Amino acid sequence: MTDYTSRFDPLLYLKTYYSGGELSSDDRMLVKLLIDWVRALACPPSTVLDFGCGPVLHTAFALAPFCERIDMADFLDSNLSTIEAWKQNSLVKHDWSAMFRTILQLLGVRTAVEGQARELREKIGHLLHCDLREEPPIQNPIQYDLVQSFYCAECVANDLTEWGEVLVPRILSFVKPEGSAVFSTMKNCQGYLSGSDWFRAVSVKEADWERVLIKNGFDPKTLLIDTVATPEWEQHGFQEVIIARAKRNRSTSVW
Ligand SMILES: C[S@@+](CC[C@H](N)C(=O)[O-])C[C@H]1O[C@@H](n2cnc3c(N)ncnc32)[C@H](O)[C@@H]1O
Repeated sequence: MTDYTSRFDPLLYLKTYYSGGELSSDDRMLVKLLIDWVRALACPPSTVLDFGCGPVLHTAFALAPFCERIDMADFLDSNLSTIEAWKQNSLVKHDWSAMFRTILQLLGVRTAVEGQARELREKIGHLLHCDLREEPPIQNPIQYDLVQSFYCAECVANDLTEWGEVLVPRILSFVKPEGSAVFSTMKNCQGYLSGSDWFRAVSVKEADWERVLIKNGFDPKTLLIDTVATPEWEQHGFQEVIIARAKRNRSTSVW
C-alpha cells in the first residue's frame, strides 16, 4: 500500500488530472453517467457521501442541484483542507470554473457557475476523516441515499481479494437499503502517476464489480457497468476506467 500521508500532494494531483480548462473525456463521461443515474432514480438522493473524495469537487458540483447534503470523506487532512478552503471561498488555489461550466452544459441548465458553486458550498456538509483500512472506516457512521467513490478502493487495497472481500464492502455499508452506489475505477491498473510520483493500485475488471455488488446485496437488475477508454492517461498508468452503479436491495442491512 502506498504511503499517502507523506507523498500525496492535493494541488499536484489537481494539476495532473483536473487542470487544462476542460474535463478529461473519462471525467466527462463519469459526470454524464452520474447525472443520468440520478435523474433515473424514482426519488432524488437527499444525502450523498463522497468516499475518498481527495481534493476533487466536480462530481459534487454535478450533484448539487439534486441533493440536500453532500458529506465528503478522505484519509488525508490535506485533501479535506483543500475542500474546506474552497467551501469557505478562502485561499482557493485551484480554478474549477471551466470544468464547472462544462458540467452545467451536461446538466443542460442555464444557471451561472457562481450560483451553482454557492449552492454546493451550502450543501457540502461534514468533512469526515476516513480510513478504509479500519472498521468502521468512518467513526459514528450513518447511511446515505447515494454513496460515490472514485478511484479510491483500488488505490488502498493490497490485492484484489482484499479489494473485493473487505474494502469495497466497507464503502457499500454506507448505502441505505434501496439507496445507490456509483464507483469509478482505473481498469487493469497497477499504479498511477500524480505529478512525477507513482502510486500503487490493484488491477480490477468489470466482472469484479459485478461480483462484489451482487454479493453485497445490490440488485442485478439495476446494475450498470461502462468501460471508458482514456488514451490521454496512457502514460499515467491506465488506458480505461470502469464506471459501475447499482441500487441496494430493500432488505439488505449490514449494521
Ligand atoms: C486516486 S485518489 C482519488 C481522489 C478522487 N476521488 C478523484 O476522483 O480523483 C485516491 C484517494 O484515496 C485516498 N486514500 C488513501 N488512503 C486511504 C485510506 N486508507 N482510506 C480511505 N481513503 C484513502 C487518498 O487520500 C486519495 O484522496
